[in-house]
Amino acid sequence: MAPTLRDVADDNDIRIGAAAAADPIREDFQYRDALREYNAVTAENAMKIGPLRPDEHTYDFEDGDLIAEFAREHDMYFRGHTLVWHNQLPEWLVPFQYTDRELRRLLEDHVRTVAGRYAGDVDTWDVVNEAVADDGGLRETPWLRAFGEEYLDKAFGWAHQSAPEADLFYNDYGADGINDKSDEIYELVSGMLDRGVPIDGVGLQLHALHDPVDPDSVAENIERFKDLGLAVEITEMDVAYTAEDPPEDHLTVQADYYREIVEKANEAGCDTIVAWGVSDQHSWIPHFDDTLTEDPLLLDDSYDRKPAYDAIVDLLS
Ligand code: G3I
Repeated sequence: MAPTLRDVADDNDIRIGAAAAADPIREDFQYRDALREYNAVTAENAMKIGPLRPDEHTYDFEDGDLIAEFAREHDMYFRGHTLVWHNQLPEWLVPFQYTDRELRRLLEDHVRTVAGRYAGDVDTWDVVNEAVADDGGLRETPWLRAFGEEYLDKAFGWAHQSAPEADLFYNDYGADGINDKSDEIYELVSGMLDRGVPIDGVGLQLHALHDPVDPDSVAENIERFKDLGLAVEITEMDVAYTAEDPPEDHLTVQADYYREIVEKANEAGCDTIVAWGVSDQHSWIPHFDDTLTEDPLLLDDSYDRKPAYDAIVDLLS
């Protein structure tokens, strides 16, 4: 049997991972087998505020615990996603019904409780996700309203106090290569470092949709964050084309793209690349954007290896 992604990633002392959900781990042995072909895992939804908080006074850790146990049992690098985000908030958390003081107390309690719960399990947290607006500046979120810009510094501080061993990342999309948004994130994290905030790295989501970003620009972006002393990880990779007009033989084009990203990202010092789903049947894309091709990941709907999977194995062998 040809080596798995896990085999070649372990041999090269890097991580090739996948985002995972609890239900298929519980119910589908093929899913469990496929997930073990990676040596890193991210909780796709189970550790977000909404899924964790059925009501204001309750934490539901069942799904998060199950993914943490799977990662521990199979010695996988475990990324926690995400402590502070403006999306997927629980239905009961209607921001304007809370005073700023209540929101501040609520967020601090949430970050300390969740980071504390998984101390020793989660290797790396996306502490804050998508705080920079696409048109510049910080995104208008309930947290920005309640705290002002200091909410990022505070969240990293709380996470560090509750999980001192975990690496703490800022994670975002649309800033994978050199562009205005990645420039803004560069300024943001430089300022945090200057203020002594315990940030360890930056996550580039790399949803390469329609017109994938240039791998050389991604490598240049990685290098400049590395020069700040930060780690860089590719945290949510998937590659999808315009469904109406995909490139000819798009699975081969996709394979070449995954290979080039892995190669150039590694050369630039990025040692972790996570695909945003175990197989095509688990991708978020068909549920969110029907203008895109529905096969963005490394394993197909039947958990069979795609040209992209083989290209990465070939590159790292
Ligand atoms: O769990 C409920 C289920 O009980 C309910 O029956 C069902 C029907 O409404 O919804 C289920 O929740 C869905 C959840 O995924 C789990 O499947 C939510 O509606 C749905 O919104 C949620 O979508 C997730 C999305 O983030 C939310 O914004 C995607 O799976 C997830 O892949 C996606 O991931 C984000 C990253 O966190 C951040 N970066 C972008 C990325 C893609 O949007």
